[in-house]
Amino acid sequence: MATEKTFYLETFGCQMNAHDSEKVIGTLQQQGYRQVESEEDAGLILYNTCSIRDKAEQKVFHRLNDYKKLQKAGKRFGVLGCVAQQEGEKIFERAPYVSLVSGSASYRRLPEMLERLEAGETRITGLDDRATEETFETEFTARQNPYRGYITIIEGCDKFCAYCVVPYTRGKERSRSSSSVLAEARRIVDQGYSEIQLLGQNVNSYRDPEGKLSFADLLAAVGQVEGIRRVRFTTSHPRDFTPDIVAAIDAVPTLCDHVHLPVQSGSSNVLKRMAREYTREWYLERISWMKAAKRPISLSTDIIVGFPSETEDDFIQTMDLLAEVQYDCVFGFKYSARPNTPALVMIDSIPEAEKSLRLQRLLDRQREIQRVNYSKQIGEVLEVMVEGVNPARGQIAGRSTQNKSVNFTMSSPIAPAPGSYLMVKITGAFPNSLVGVAIES
Ligand code: 5AD
Ligand code: SF4
Repeated sequence: MATEKTFYLETFGCQMNAHDSEKVIGTLQQQGYRQVESEEDAGLILYNTCSIRDKAEQKVFHRLNDYKKLQKAGKRFGVLGCVAQQEGEKIFERAPYVSLVSGSASYRRLPEMLERLEAGETRITGLDDRATEETFETEFTARQNPYRGYITIIEGCDKFCAYCVVPYTRGKERSRSSSSVLAEARRIVDQGYSEIQLLGQNVNSYRDPEGKLSFADLLAAVGQVEGIRRVRFTTSHPRDFTPDIVAAIDAVPTLCDHVHLPVQSGSSNVLKRMAREYTREWYLERISWMKAAKRPISLSTDIIVGFPSETEDDFIQTMDLLAEVQYDCVFGFKYSARPNTPALVMIDSIPEAEKSLRLQRLLDRQREIQRVNYSKQIGEVLEVMVEGVNPARGQIAGRSTQNKSVNFTMSSPIAPAPGSYLMVKITGAFPNSLVGVAIES
């Protein structure tokens, strides 16, 4: 009797990676594999890795080293994702027990790679680079998120910001046809989802290969699929942010009133060195379009502090931008030099302690902004989608359409299912979440 094929998969990194894992799981299941919850029980151990910051590749090698002991009894190892693409065959040198190394641009070849693995091959690579035109579309996606269905609409990145590995790890931009995106949106509704998140490294750089829909048209079309209640999209790039996106949000109520628009720095000098191809003023013009919308659009951003040669004055300009835009959420990062990137030729001049200090100052300032802004919502009634229940605290966790966390109580002893919607009266606020009570009829 053939032994059962089992796999364990651990995922690091962004939502793109999380969703790639859903596709990888579906593909493996299609190939007769069963997912198990621990490395010990698995025949095939896979890590889907991230290399965006810090010494990510170092962490992966450490992790692999920890599991060297599992090598016994025919267990096989595979490294997937961005570190796989970045380090390539070097992984076999440093961790000889790894049999499979594949970046995301090669996942469509996973079935063939798995067959070779089963036949006993040990150095299997999927390292398609920027030449790839193909997307990883699969009807086998094994959705893991109970309340949100992800759809990749564009893979890769052609922007080449000076600090970023993504163009090298995920290859060149390639969009999925609008008819295929809409077909998947309908399939997701049939599976019981009412919230969709459209994904792409630069989601709004979307170019319909069929030439039918612009990104804003596609947003509107997904929002009008019957059964959809919420549509989110991430991550947008300011360069490709056009007024018709704001018009679509105004016109189609299912499009969530939240836009994540990474600015990276508030200083035009730093933006220039980062090769972001916009200035502070140009970015703020996009923000002004959103402020002029009929619906209150919540804004969030990513910021890098301590980019090479960032002066105190540059940093102050970033701090001032926080107050000017009034973001509801900021993800702040200390600059870290990454392999292959253009910024490597610049001297990483800001000492680590100064980077940490700037990051802390940034997050402290933002916390104050959020403390004030979130408390303004006390007394409002918001539609909240349930994400989970915390029985220990008797609380239900959910999210408003503006993407704010809402923790609330209700008197009904029956906990609402993830993905259901309730109206919640906001009774309190913290800098990162709202608190409330469900309005029960
Ligand atoms: N160093 C620090 N932060 C980075 N990011 C991307 N590359 C780097 C880097 N080398 C941040 C950016 C991006 C987010 C996903 O990660 O802010 O928007
Ligand atoms: Fe990390 Fe970027 Fe790769 Fe996502 S695309 S896993 S953030 S390196």
